[in-house]
Amino acid sequence: MWSAVAFVALSSTVAGVSGALVNFQVAQPPVVPSGVKTCTHSLLERNFANSYYQPEIVEYVPPTDCGAPGSWTAITLNWTATSNGTQYDRLSAISFHNVEVWRTSTPEPTLAGIIWTYLKDVTLFTPLFAKPGRLILDLNNIVDPSQGITGEYFVRLSVTFYASNLLHPPAKAADTILPLSNFSPDQANYVSVPPALDTVLTFPRNSVSAFAELYASGNSQDEEFWYFDTANEYIDKLPSGAASPRGPYREVRLLVDGQLAGSALPWAVFFTGAINPLVWRPIPAYGALDLPRYYVDLTPFIPKLADGLNHTVTVDIISAEDDHATNQNWYVSGNIQVFVDSTSKPTTGKITKYSASPYPISQVTGSVAENGDVNVTVSATRSLTIEAEIVAGSGKKTLVHWSQNLSYVNKQTFTDDANSQTVKQKSSGTSVSLHNGIPVVSDIFSYPVDVDFALYPDGSGYTVVFDHTYTRSLLPNPLTYTTNINSYQHANGSIWALPTGGRTGNGTNINSFKYLDLHGNSYTRDVAVTNNTISYDRVGGSLAGSPFQFVLQPAGRNVLDAARLPLGRASRRFGSGF
Ligand SMILES: *[C@@H]1O[C@H](CO)[C@@H](O)[C@H](O)[C@H]1NC(C)=O
Ligand SMILES: *[C@@H]1O[C@H](CO)[C@@H](O)[C@H](O)[C@H]1NC(C)=O
Ligand SMILES: *[C@@H]1O[C@H](CO)[C@@H](O)[C@H](O)[C@H]1NC(C)=O
Ligand SMILES: *[C@@H]1O[C@H](CO)[C@@H](O)[C@H](O)[C@H]1NC(C)=O
Ligand SMILES: *[C@@H]1O[C@H](CO)[C@@H](O)[C@H](O)[C@H]1NC(C)=O
Ligand SMILES: *[C@@H]1O[C@H](CO)[C@@H](O)[C@H](O)[C@H]1NC(C)=O
Ligand SMILES: *[C@@H]1O[C@H](CO)[C@@H](O)[C@H](O)[C@H]1NC(C)=O
Ligand SMILES: *[C@@H]1O[C@H](CO)[C@@H](O)[C@H](O)[C@H]1NC(C)=O
Repeated sequence: MWSAVAFVALSSTVAGVSGALVNFQVAQPPVVPSGVKTCTHSLLERNFANSYYQPEIVEYVPPTDCGAPGSWTAITLNWTATSNGTQYDRLSAISFHNVEVWRTSTPEPTLAGIIWTYLKDVTLFTPLFAKPGRLILDLNNIVDPSQGITGEYFVRLSVTFYASNLLHPPAKAADTILPLSNFSPDQANYVSVPPALDTVLTFPRNSVSAFAELYASGNSQDEEFWYFDTANEYIDKLPSGAASPRGPYREVRLLVDGQLAGSALPWAVFFTGAINPLVWRPIPAYGALDLPRYYVDLTPFIPKLADGLNHTVTVDIISAEDDHATNQNWYVSGNIQVFVDSTSKPTTGKITKYSASPYPISQVTGSVAENGDVNVTVSATRSLTIEAEIVAGSGKKTLVHWSQNLSYVNKQTFTDDANSQTVKQKSSGTSVSLHNGIPVVSDIFSYPVDVDFALYPDGSGYTVVFDHTYTRSLLPNPLTYTTNINSYQHANGSIWALPTGGRTGNGTNINSFKYLDLHGNSYTRDVAVTNNTISYDRVGGSLAGSPFQFVLQPAGRNVLDAARLPLGRASRRFGSGF
């Protein structure tokens, strides 16, 4: 069923930017109850100009106007920001009580200005919102008019609490949330790897289960486009500078005292400067405003972790090369939701089966043609099974069966002296954890990604085509319920030099998005844009009338900034020297 949705005219007065282009990531609105009392509080308002290593720091105190702290039925954050000028996409993260709760990036602005809002359900972090603590929002931005880099990001962050009542009980919450963090009191709480993020933790002795959430994103010349990195074995078959080494396989690992506890294959996030910024305006790629997280059931390790001693929990990123090394850099962090027994008696038990190898099984194949064309394929699989018996102080016994099967293939082609490069990658897998036979974690995903890049034969421009699908059925932990997301996005465009100097270009982006959860909430959105103008936008599903859905772009507004294109944070191999 399709229902028309009125255009929401977003306040044109925010930060004095009038007629700003509304950017939005296609995503479901947060699922929150209606008809309950809500209380919204501003957390911060900050203009990020030259803000490198100068995050905004907020001393949070839990409000009591929507009931006792921790009694809320839901919590959402509202990030609304504006920017005008020319600027790169910037990474930003919010950490709270040293726990990263949101990783995002900034859409590149236009000269006339952009505005975007993203609403995020953060109910899983209720224990953090229930007590006073420090919130850090880092957004490392640089303004340098001499280089034409002028855009500042004006960010407003607010929190909304939904009061509980008889119909809507307080949200389920873990007993403790442990950070996987550098514990910085005044800087970003994620850590640059390699080598690794090691967090030394002591778990409560009566811990009975623990669920990890991991954040990971690739950055910089070599790792922002990690899926384009080429296996070492073939790197010297390519013209120099055509690709970065260390291959395209990336795996996020979680280890307990050096032993693998679980893995994830990351989603390839295209930030809004990815190769051609015009294709991501005003619709960023899936995940650019709310980077996906990865989940591992740590419960099998509870008998070890709850022994009262220190343990090292490690997050790292590996490749499928012989030395498993990656380039610099990835930013990683995470948290562990810990549940304790009703008694204070220590938990006992043991791992009864451990079948996992530290690294995946992988293979590199390829061919080199006489004309210099190169094809390289990297494939990998990994399986893991960990079983454990957990005996709580109260006597309750839990049999845990945690199992993962992940598979990966990436085919790269280089033609025309590597001026044309294509990548076809597919990461997919199934991870399930059963506690006494009941699924408490489940992550079934498929992430096909296809990027075709070609320089014009005369070198005067380039074309890029992106095609990617995020299909994921996810139960991250027992605090919530299964959601199913299918997000298909196709984007393409060109950038070319103008005879008068400068550059111009075009971009299109079509999206087909479906959300369905275990409670029957649904949301669909089909929206397409060409050269900044929405050509169609159809919204359906039970959440379609939600006042919280992401704002729509009034059709017909805004033209390309012909005078000055924003910068594409393309690595040197894309349109270099152009
Ligand atoms: C952004 O817009 C404001 C308000 O119109 C203006 O004063 C400022 O110069 C603009 N900044 C840039 C970098 O264009
Ligand atoms: C645990 O580690 C912390 C700091 O990393 C240290 O201060 C503490 O003494 C250690 N405790 C034990 C029992 O080793
Ligand atoms: C690379 O693979 C394509 C098919 O995808 C094939 O047409 C081409 O000949 C291959 N090139 C090389 C160098 O093997
Ligand atoms: C992984 O594969 C094995 C072997 O096919 C199977 O027994 C196991 O159930 C699979 N695990 C998951 C989570 O799909
Ligand atoms: C998109 O913009 C480019 C550059 O201004 C222009 O050449 C092209 O005709 C436009 N395409 C469409 C479909 O509007
Ligand atoms: C973008 O420009 C290229 C090169 O002129 C052209 O082939 C393509 O059709 C254009 N796309 C759109 C959407 O205008
Ligand atoms: C570019 O996207 C448009 C739809 O937005 C599509 O019609 C066209 O075929 C695409 N071009 C390429 C080369 O994929
Ligand atoms: C989000 O915050 C912005 C800026 O404060 C505000 O204009 C907007 O109405 C808020 N959106 C929702 C759904 O609360």
